[in-house]
Amino acid sequence: MCSIIGYKGKSPAAPILVNSLKRMEYRGYDSVGVATLEGGKILVKKGVGNVEKVNSNLAMESMAGHAGVGHTRWATHGAVTDSNAHPHSACNNNIVVVHNGIIENYKELKEGLISSGHVFTSQTDSEVIAHLLEVYYAQFSSVKKAMTETCKKLRGAFAFVAVFNDGTIAGARYEEPLIIGVANGGYFLSSDVLGFIEFTDRAIFLDNRDIAIMDSTKLELFNFEGEAVARPIAQVAWELGAADKGKYAHYTLKEINEQKSTLADAMSQNVDTVEKFCDAIKSAASLYITGSGSSYHAALVAKQVLAKFAKIRVEAVISSEFQYVLESMDSKSVLIAISQSGETADVLNSAKLVKRMGAKILSIVNVPTSSLALQSDHFLLINCGPEIGVAATKSFTGQLAVIYNIINRLCGGCLGADIASQLAAAAEKILAGQENIAKIAAQLKDATDVYILGRSIHYPIALEGALKLKELAYVHAEGIAAGELKHGPLALMEKNTVVILINPHDSTFGDTISNAHEIKARGATVIGISDSKEEIYDYWIEIPRLEQEMLYPIESVMPLQILAYYMALERNANPDYPRNLAKSVTVR
Ligand code: AGP
Repeated sequence: MCSIIGYKGKSPAAPILVNSLKRMEYRGYDSVGVATLEGGKILVKKGVGNVEKVNSNLAMESMAGHAGVGHTRWATHGAVTDSNAHPHSACNNNIVVVHNGIIENYKELKEGLISSGHVFTSQTDSEVIAHLLEVYYAQFSSVKKAMTETCKKLRGAFAFVAVFNDGTIAGARYEEPLIIGVANGGYFLSSDVLGFIEFTDRAIFLDNRDIAIMDSTKLELFNFEGEAVARPIAQVAWELGAADKGKYAHYTLKEINEQKSTLADAMSQNVDTVEKFCDAIKSAASLYITGSGSSYHAALVAKQVLAKFAKIRVEAVISSEFQYVLESMDSKSVLIAISQSGETADVLNSAKLVKRMGAKILSIVNVPTSSLALQSDHFLLINCGPEIGVAATKSFTGQLAVIYNIINRLCGGCLGADIASQLAAAAEKILAGQENIAKIAAQLKDATDVYILGRSIHYPIALEGALKLKELAYVHAEGIAAGELKHGPLALMEKNTVVILINPHDSTFGDTISNAHEIKARGATVIGISDSKEEIYDYWIEIPRLEQEMLYPIESVMPLQILAYYMALERNANPDYPRNLAKSVTVR
C-alpha cells in the first residue's frame, strides 16, 4: 500500500525522490519521508501529511546527496505519527530502510533484537528490517550477505530498499512489487513504473526472492540464496507517465471526463487475444470471476450478462472471500480476475491459490506490467491510461467495456457491431449534464443516509454508486436490490432519507417505479437516474436511451460518480485522496 523509491546516480537525489513520491502518492498518503547519503552520513527527513505538505515543512527537496530513498505511507502497524513514518534507521544510523508490505513475524524478531540491545524508535513492523540489516552488516561486512540473511529471516510480504553508509543502495522483494528503472545517469528501485517513467522507459521487473544491489558503478542481481540471477530489461510505455490533472481541479474529475474516449479504447482489443480469452472461458468445466471493491461490482455485472447472452454460468466471488470456496474448484476450472492495478493483494492471492490447483487464470487489468497480468494465462487490457484518483471511475467502465466485448464475441455479435460508438455518444451526453448533477449534490450536502436501488443489472451499479459516495463524500450509502425494499429497508424510509433509483426504461422499469411510490409515501426524497422523466422523482438525472438494455450499467454509473465527486467538494473532502484509503491495496 505504501510506495517506495530508491535512486543512485549522477543527479542530486532528493528532488528526484520527492517528485517520484508525488507520482506514486496514490499508493498511500498519510506520511512521507526521504533519506539521502552525503559524505558517508545518512540524513533523514520525515513527517505526517502528504508529499506537498511534508516537503514544504521540511524542505526535503533540498537535501544533499546523489543517493537516497523515499516513502509514502499507508499505516498498517503503528499510528500515523512522525516516528512511524519511513525511512527507519538502525541503531548506529549507518543503514536506513523504506518498506512496503507486512512483516508477519516482526514481533518475535523485534523481541530478539531488543534482548540483544537494539533500541526501537517506532511501532512499525518495518523497523526490524533496518536492525536486522545492521546485525548482519556488522557480522559479515558485506551488503550482499546482510541482504540475503535479512531476507531469509522475514516472513510475510515485502519490498524494501535500504541505503548503506558505504554508498550502496539495495532492494529486495517478496510478494510486493519492486521494479528497477535503468536510466542513463543512474538507477531507480521503485514500487511502480510511475516512480521513474519521467527519466527512463527501461525497466527490470524483479521476481519474488530477488535482491538488487547498486554501488556507484554497477547493478547486481541475486536471489535470497546469494546466487546471481539475470532479468531482462523491458521497455515500458511512456504514456504511463501521462498522469497530470490537465485543466481539471482533480484527477478524479479528469478521469470521469475521460470516459468519453476510454470506453472505445477498452473495446479496441487485439482479436487473437480476445479469441484465446474466449476459448479459455468455453473450455472451463467451472468458471469463477473475482475482484475487490469496484472490480467485484464489474464481476457482478459480468455474471448476469454472461448468463443472459452467452448462456455461460459463472460464479462471482469477492477476492477476499475466495480462499473459502476453493473446495468447489479443480484443475479444469477457470478464474477470471478483474483488477485495475493488477496489484491488489486479495486478487493476487486468489490467483495464486487457483494456480496451485492447476486451473487457468484470465485477467482484465489496466497495468500490463502488473503482477496479475504477469501470472495470467491470458490477459486483456482496460486501456484507460493511468488512474490516479483513489476512486475507480474510468477503470470501472473500462472493465465493463472489456466484459461486453468478450460477451459479444461469445454470443456471435448479439450485442451489435457498434457498441463502442453508442456508448461513447451516451457518455458524452451524460458528461454534458454535470452541472445539473452538481446542483443536486449541493442539495444533498447534509444527507446522512443515501440508499441506491436497482434491479437486475442495475443492482451491481447501486452497490458501486454507494461505494463511490462512501469513499469520496464520506456519506453513509447502501446499494439495495430494489425488490428487497419490502423485506426490511422500507423501515428506514422517512422524511430525511435520500433514495436514488437506477431506473432506465427496460424490463425492470415498472417494478422500480412501484418502489418509488412506496418510498415517496414515507416522505423520502426520490432521485431517478433514468431515460424518462417521471413525476414521482424529486430530482431527475437524465441518461440517454440505449437500444440494448444490458448496456445500461456503463452509462448509469457515470451520474453516480459525478454526484459523489461533487458531494465530496460540498463536504470539503479531497476526492483524489479519501481519508484512510489508498489506490492500490497490496496488503491482505
Ligand atoms: C474503488 O473506488 C476503490 N478505490 C477500491 O474498491 C478498488 O476498486 C479495489 O481496491 C480494487 O482495486 P483494483 O481494481 O486495483 O484491484
